[in-house]
Amino acid sequence: MQLPSKVKLVDVGPRDGLQNEKEPVPAAVKIALVHRLQDAGLRDIEVTSHVSPKWVPQMADAAEVMAGLARQPGVRYSVLTPNMKGFEAALQGKPDEVVIFGAASEAFSQRNINCSIAESIERFAPVVEAARAKGIHVRAVMSTAVGCPYEGEIAPERVEMFARLARQIGAQHLGVADTIGVGTPRKVQRAMEAALKHFELDAVSGHFHDTYGQALANTLACLQMGIWQYDASVAGLGGCPYAKGATGNVATEDVVFMLHGLGIETGIDLDKLVDAGKFISDFLGRKPNSRVATAVLNKRSG
Ligand code: HMG
Ligand code: MG
Repeated sequence: MQLPSKVKLVDVGPRDGLQNEKEPVPAAVKIALVHRLQDAGLRDIEVTSHVSPKWVPQMADAAEVMAGLARQPGVRYSVLTPNMKGFEAALQGKPDEVVIFGAASEAFSQRNINCSIAESIERFAPVVEAARAKGIHVRAVMSTAVGCPYEGEIAPERVEMFARLARQIGAQHLGVADTIGVGTPRKVQRAMEAALKHFELDAVSGHFHDTYGQALANTLACLQMGIWQYDASVAGLGGCPYAKGATGNVATEDVVFMLHGLGIETGIDLDKLVDAGKFISDFLGRKPNSRVATAVLNKRSG
């Protein structure tokens, strides 16, 4: 199959990335990061989460971050909303998209959102209904679609089951997430095939953590299936507080370099993206976790 000619990347760095930092990141720095991402051409940015501040203190400033954005027309700003409480809190910030997030594995569902898969669907259903009634797009994300830190390998049947439930309650999109980065190309393709039984090709995306260095290979494997939407995280920020040892998402810089090399359009300016990654990495006091960013920065200083 021909590869897609265009790819949409959602930068999840401000959310997935910064939710996992030990030192608090001020709202002003988060806002500045979002601004740099949109200036680099990102048209989809996952900004923050409306979750319990006791569970994820790093996202306690969600309202402040949303209120501080200088929005650009054409950019979709998304927030995570695990339940009605989160959705109601999110409304003030006028998100363009809300993200409900569940899991293919029971154990991960319990650890991450404190309920079973079935209970999570019951919590999500009113969120989907209320969001759609207001014209807010609803994306569902399925964690542990390939492997779970507690249950090990996850069968495609589990992925299919969650996809079916997400579809039934009216989610408009399904993100298939390899939370701990253990997927390899064929396994990820099988998870995607299971998701595609309930969602159209245009309504699925990949979310690959790069813990084992497989994320670019997995992205290419999904491009070969025609999947054209992916989450990535500037400077490779990220991880999930409930998936110990899992590192960040694949770096947006690395995905952009690969896509441009394949002649695939992203609308993203790689140099400005590298600047955005350097900005947040400097703040965090480390180097960007991206081979491409490292190469570009070395070339600049050489
Ligand atoms: P719960 O304890 O089951 O909820 O938490 P509850 O309804 O029983 O409420 C308990 C307390 O939480 C109450 O406060 C509520 O008010 C409060 P208290 O009376 O004790 O003071 N509460 C909330 N506060 C703010 N916002 C809310 C909210 N809901 C309840 N929305 C809950 C359920 C989901 C809230 C909790 O388990 C939680 O916050 N978990 C954190 C989940 C999370 O953010 N995980 C990381 C993001 S997911 C991820 O990274 C994976 C992803 O990237 C894909 C991948 O890679 O796999 C998306
Ligand atoms: Mg993630």
